[in-house]
Amino acid sequence: MSVDTQTIKEQALADFSKYISPMKVRTMKAAGLDIIEDWREGATICDITGKKYIDCQTGSGIMNVGRHNREIVEALKKALDTYDIGVFLLCSKQKADLAKRLAEITPGDLACTVFGVGGGEANDAAIKIARGYTMKKEIIYAQRAYHGHTGFALSAIGRDAYKEPFEPLMPGFIQVPFGDFEAVRGAVTDDTAAIILEPVQGEGGIHVPPDDYLPAVRRLCDEHEICLILDEIQTGFARTGRMFACEHWGVVPDIMTVAKSLGGGIYPISATIFKEEIQDFFIPHPFIHLSTFGGSDLGCIVGLAVIDYIEKNGLAEHADRMGMRFQTGFDRLLKDHPDLLLEVRRKGLMMGLQYTNESIGPRLTKKLADRSIIAIYTGNDPSICRFMPPLVITEEEVDMVLNALEDSMKELSGESGLGKND
Ligand SMILES: Cc1ncc(COP(=O)(O)O)c(C=O)c1O
Repeated sequence: MSVDTQTIKEQALADFSKYISPMKVRTMKAAGLDIIEDWREGATICDITGKKYIDCQTGSGIMNVGRHNREIVEALKKALDTYDIGVFLLCSKQKADLAKRLAEITPGDLACTVFGVGGGEANDAAIKIARGYTMKKEIIYAQRAYHGHTGFALSAIGRDAYKEPFEPLMPGFIQVPFGDFEAVRGAVTDDTAAIILEPVQGEGGIHVPPDDYLPAVRRLCDEHEICLILDEIQTGFARTGRMFACEHWGVVPDIMTVAKSLGGGIYPISATIFKEEIQDFFIPHPFIHLSTFGGSDLGCIVGLAVIDYIEKNGLAEHADRMGMRFQTGFDRLLKDHPDLLLEVRRKGLMMGLQYTNESIGPRLTKKLADRSIIAIYTGNDPSICRFMPPLVITEEEVDMVLNALEDSMKELSGESGLGKND
């Protein structure tokens, strides 16, 4: 490691600590993840000092097409020769092209799009549209849900710690346990506008619902004229082995939100996609939901390139195959380390390891970082570690992650203090 890069790194960390967040720097140092990213490619990133890592965190799934994907970068570079972000009040060919493409690739009769920049904003728009369209007020959401930190979305987060300092939040939000159909049915009233769910909960710790859950919720929504909002912000764009996770259960929502990987890790963009009949709400109010940077011309060009890349390279099928390869290794770890590993929850390359107690998440995260793997325990529950590598991860890289996990677990098993939530 040259002195120069180490000095640059220390200065960057010191400045980050002083001008952004000292606690973030402290937490990352403790986790062995005080990395200053330099170059990035595929599933790999390189710290400024030259140490390489396999990225199994990927901003919770924003890099499905891989880190710094060259085809997406080239699409953006080419676009920059001619375009800027565009004027959001004008009609734009780029917006029209991406909205049309989203209508084509999303399941069923999802047809129209409102663009945004980030995921929380897309969910805000979804909830607004559901209330505006149904003229009802109540929103049912799930425990452990994560929908973003903006106004309406924050009200639908199923973790009190994110919400309590900011109360009172939006009224009319009702929380139910995730995966429990009777609980949802019991919460429905004549004033229910929408049920908002992640098809597989991400931030909450990778929770896959029972197979009959989403179809039953769909039927319930039909019976009571409730909008089903599916938040595919983390699950979308091939992450779970299908283009959208709801396809696993043959369920079509009334409103779907996407963000994260639509921007290819290169340019932020989000979309709230809804059925054509919901467009009725916008007829008298075409300017009721606005976002200056939402669906910028550049972002739309990137989104189109991302969709092309996913389809052309069969990333959904690849995610399925690599997910199964991971599963074989996880099964071995479950057998060899029952002291550490309780359960594996997985859909495609959306994977969560449930450890036996809360002390293990931070300790294994550190041991994995020492072995060049970035995989971070969830803030919701340190006994869970998420693995969400880029979908372009190779077989060899999958094996490297599994070997690092095995070595880390062996080492941890030999240490004292297991079984304590310390
Ligand atoms: C399922 C889900 N919804 C919404 C969001 C919020 O997205 P953003 O951080 O872009 O606002 C996230 C972010 O992790 C997410 O995982």
